Amino acid sequence: MNIFYVDGEFVPETRAVIPVNDLVLLRGYGVFDFLRTYKRKPFYLKEHIKRLESSAKLIGLCLGFSQQEIFDIVIKTLAKNDKLQEANIRILVTGGMTIDFITPQNKPRLIVMVTPVTVFPEQLYTHGAAVVTTYDERYIPGSKSINYIPGILALNRACKQDAVESIYIDRYGRLLEGTTSNFFGFMDNKLITPGKSILHGITRQVVLNLAEKEFDIEIRDVYKEEIRLMNEFFICSSNKEIMPVVRVDDLVLSNGRPGEQTCRIMQMFKQYTCDYNQ
Ligand SMILES: Cc1ncc(COP(=O)(O)O)c(C=O)c1O
Repeated sequence: MNIFYVDGEFVPETRAVIPVNDLVLLRGYGVFDFLRTYKRKPFYLKEHIKRLESSAKLIGLCLGFSQQEIFDIVIKTLAKNDKLQEANIRILVTGGMTIDFITPQNKPRLIVMVTPVTVFPEQLYTHGAAVVTTYDERYIPGSKSINYIPGILALNRACKQDAVESIYIDRYGRLLEGTTSNFFGFMDNKLITPGKSILHGITRQVVLNLAEKEFDIEIRDVYKEEIRLMNEFFICSSNKEIMPVVRVDDLVLSNGRPGEQTCRIMQMFKQYTCDYNQ
């Protein structure tokens, strides 16, 4: 059974509980971050913890733990789950207990959940995935807050259309990001991706670092009407890695097959994660 860290203790997942007077439960007040391991090494753990801290700051939540303390607890929790070959790691910081059901008492709870890595069907990578678009905007998009109501609704819509992800479009018609991923498109051989009103994905940054060696990159607002001008499209995240997209709503892209340049980025990313040794 998986072992979780909950508010100071390591417990089997079936006994991983928190009191009901926590603001995360009462008001959805809390933040989290998500990463995975490669060869049991947490991929970009320091950057994920930095983002967790910034997520908390953006919603005025006091973390109550230093980055080093969180780092050490994650490493310890991973070590307790030594049967897992590769793991998903969720780090949550809850709003903590409240007396009047709304005011934080600055007693956040730290939770670390280590579970087996998610494996997506191989076909999505070899044949490409479908995504849909949804008019919605995340509240304080730079913060990975616990509240994923827009995400759950948008993914539900995607699922009904045999799609794996839904890309948010804001009131200005800008394509922002997926519910749990960022996106890139290739247009006139340029790799484009938005840089504003999104969660800055750690995978997105790795892609940018790798791609700049071989491609021209443009970080700018991307509009819905531009999808039809794109030769290739892909989404990226810690759990999906680089996933080629061949359909956006009803529009078929790159002749319905993963594009050459996307495949090159997938290959670079794979190599990078294979060599990852931090
Ligand atoms: C809203 C949102 N955007 C982007 C991402 C991708 O971030 P990362 O690459 O750090 O997993 C996520 C991840 O869950 C997300 O929830």
